[in-house]
Amino acid sequence: MHMVLGAALAAVVLVWSFGTVRAEDKLSISDVMKQAHGGGQNSLLNKATGPNAAKEDKEKLLSLYKALAENEPPKGDANSWKEKTSNLIKAAEANLKGEQGAGQKVRQAANCMACHRVHRPN
Ligand code: HEC
Repeated sequence: MHMVLGAALAAVVLVWSFGTVRAEDKLSISDVMKQAHGGGQNSLLNKATGPNAAKEDKEKLLSLYKALAENEPPKGDANSWKEKTSNLIKAAEANLKGEQGAGQKVRQAANCMACHRVHRPN
């Protein structure tokens, strides 16, 4: 009886931990939008590209854009998506390295309307 219970418990823990890992590995476009671009003036995008940006914010933004690139766009051409998301990654990498003017480049690459017009479903 105890062994059956133990095995069942182990299975539950196993499934639970796999589920957790997956959720972190694969962020949807919506997740990335909320975490990187939500919050208006206080968005991560703004914080990470501001004058005294914290390294953690720059790293977080870069990892979110990498996750974005791993998604398929719900609408629009795959090459266009690849170009836009790789520009975001390149700019966020330069921003993390602290290159001159890189914050501005990230903001330009994160052109909300330019991307939504092509890739966001109505
Ligand atoms: C590289 C392309 C791209 C860029 C740049 C981009 N977005 Fe998005 N965004 C999308 C796509 C695609 C969706 C639709 C996701 C879906 O419906 O699956 C979306 C959805 C959203 C959503 C809805 C999220 C939800 O599901 O609740 C918000 C909010 C949003 N974007 C904000 C922004 C803001 C603000 C900016 C500019 C700072 C921005 N996005 C820049 C591609 C982009």
